[in-house]
Amino acid sequence: MKKVIAVASFTAILLASCTPKATTAATPVVSKSTAEQIAQGKTIFENSCGRCHKLPDPTSHNSVQWVGIMNSMAPKARLTDEQHQWVYDYIVSVKK
Ligand code: HEC
Repeated sequence: MKKVIAVASFTAILLASCTPKATTAATPVVSKSTAEQIAQGKTIFENSCGRCHKLPDPTSHNSVQWVGIMNSMAPKARLTDEQHQWVYDYIVSVKK
């Protein structure tokens, strides 16, 4: 019985020491992409979004319409969530 308790407390210490220090990295959930990420978004857009159809014109739809389009096109282009965000931010940045 003592042995079980010893193992259990050892495991608890192990778990506690492995807990990531989540509060140290202050990454806002809704983050504006940096200029660098927007530039990457442009590259991804040019490389991935002209494969199945003509490269779309970023000014052809408004920012709300692009949310929906990107939601259906990002999986087609096999973008990661990050790439999805960067491409969207690039497209929207063109409009201004
Ligand atoms: C695997 C093929 C494929 C890839 C990759 C792809 N698309 Fe498309 N796209 C389609 C097809 C098929 C349609 C038309 C049917 C539809 O709307 O689903 C379309 C339609 C569109 C339209 C017209 C939608 C509308 O409502 O007028 C836009 C804009 C568009 N895609 C943008 C993009 C962007 C931006 C990317 C890159 C992130 C992309 N597409 C990547 C296949 C693709």
